[in-house]
Amino acid sequence: MTHPANDSHRVWDLPTRLFHWLLVALVALQYASGEFGWPSMQWHYLCGYATLALIAFRLLWGLCGSQTSRFGEFVRGPRAVWRYVAGLARGDATHGAGHNPLGGWSVVLMLASIALQATSGLFASDDISEEGPLVARVSAATVAWMTRIHLWNRYVLLALIVLHLVAIASYGVLRGNNLVLPMLSGHARGVRAQSLRFAPGWLALLLFALAAAAVWALVAWGEAA
Ligand code: HEM
Ligand code: HEM
Repeated sequence: MTHPANDSHRVWDLPTRLFHWLLVALVALQYASGEFGWPSMQWHYLCGYATLALIAFRLLWGLCGSQTSRFGEFVRGPRAVWRYVAGLARGDATHGAGHNPLGGWSVVLMLASIALQATSGLFASDDISEEGPLVARVSAATVAWMTRIHLWNRYVLLALIVLHLVAIASYGVLRGNNLVLPMLSGHARGVRAQSLRFAPGWLALLLFALAAAAVWALVAWGEAA
């Protein structure tokens, strides 16, 4: 007989998983192209637009997507975070399916930092050969500010990513909880996930198309200046 805690439940939908692994590839390419010029700065811009579209999609999906992806489900108040952290310290922290109350805030911080990095890039310039597509639409002072933000926030984002990886490794090593497999397969064992609601795939496609069209229109408007 199978123990209920060992049953496998679907926790992450395909759009959220695709979002995550595409984001990982794009952010890695942005660092490679920004820091080392590999493969080229042209890739930096193209990956940047794709990142912006993904982030805009994720914001919409956080409002009307599947239950475990909604901000309203995993962004919790300080009391819930404290209860969870106290539980972690005692070794008996539990939570439902999806991001835990502490992880939820790290997700918010990462999404905000990536959004800031990609948005500031649109207005960034090295005053030599590289500039984002919206530089001609704003004042020199704004370009200077945005470039400063772009150059500094890359370290903030890097620190958040390192923290993310350390947290995931700690869950695996200290608690024997493999969080990576569910992000790959969508399914997890031993979670309370009986009656989760999942949004349809066509809605994700529609929202992504909207997000991509908005980014395309913004860049085209900038380049027309
Ligand atoms: C550039 C590097 C990375 C970034 C920017 C990033 C960002 C994120 C974001 C934004 C989420 C929230 C997903 C959502 O609800 O939309 C997330 C979750 C997650 N990420 Fe990453 N990630 C990165 C690298 C990785 C890597 C390399 C792994 C695996 C080794 C990983 C494993 C996970 C897992 C397991 C979760 C779900 C955590 C949970 O169960 O609450 N991430 N990541
Ligand atoms: C997550 C997204 C992004 C990351 C992680 C990122 C990262 C970086 C890094 C590491 C540099 C090199 C800084 C240096 O050493 O001088 C850079 C420079 C630059 N990036 Fe991005 N970037 C992102 C998005 C964008 C976007 C969307 C654009 C514009 C479409 C953009 C435009 C630029 C420009 C114009 C520079 C040259 C600025 C300078 O060197 O002064 N970036 N970026």
